[in-house]
Amino acid sequence: MTRSVQDAITGFWGSIAGQYEAHAGNVPARDSAELGEWIAAIRALLPAPPADVLDIATGTGFVALIAAGLGHRVTAIDLAQPMLAEARAEAARGKLDVAFRTGDAVAPDFPQQSFDAIVNRHLFWTLRDPAAALAAWKRLLRPGGRVVVIDGFWFEPLRDDKPDEGLFESFYTRDVRKTLPGWRYFDTRPVAALFEQHGFRNVSVIGLDAIHRAAATPPGPEPGYALSAFA
Ligand SMILES: C[S@@+](CC[C@H](N)C(=O)[O-])C[C@H]1O[C@@H](n2cnc3c(N)ncnc32)[C@H](O)[C@@H]1O
Repeated sequence: MTRSVQDAITGFWGSIAGQYEAHAGNVPARDSAELGEWIAAIRALLPAPPADVLDIATGTGFVALIAAGLGHRVTAIDLAQPMLAEARAEAARGKLDVAFRTGDAVAPDFPQQSFDAIVNRHLFWTLRDPAAALAAWKRLLRPGGRVVVIDGFWFEPLRDDKPDEGLFESFYTRDVRKTLPGWRYFDTRPVAALFEQHGFRNVSVIGLDAIHRAAATPPGPEPGYALSAFA
């Protein structure tokens, strides 16, 4: 039976959910300087609290829980149930109130104009249909609302001569990777252009250099970026 691209993606994240936070490159340690930098960056990127914030592809809830801690009303979605279970447990431990739901980044199921801000971290590289997602996100934003995309360029260009070895490649096979537009982006220009094509205004990109400098184990050799764009 052939597995859909999204089933492969969701299958991978579901299979590693229990170990996701053990990798410092994914989620920094509590009380670390890097976590302090993340909190400062997310505070600056989001509107003044309290705002209605949707964290898309929340994983174990890293951004959602920071946003809730800053005083926002937060809803968070993901398709990998084991990720959502980790996120709910983390919210309970931190006594933070986040509405975690099953939901697809490409077609989030909420009424129009439900949110002041939509945020996602480390999703864009693996988003199967960024154009459809942007159109959907725009409908969910109130006038003047914003999208914040946080990501980086983690991977080498696709190579046909490299075998699909390892757990990651058993889900993200070459055929899956080839379908993902994010694997053809090597800087933020095509990402910013996509937002402009979808009618977002004031598209701006900043480098997350302070986070990169503070990170014990950065996820890649270069600092990630945060793009913000307004409906
Ligand atoms: C690298 S993790 C990032 C998790 C979290 N945002 C963070 O910053 O730690 C990618 C997440 O995207 C989720 N994901 C991938 N495609 C998705 C989709 N179409 N809809 C919802 N979640 C998706 C995966 O299940 C996984 O939890």
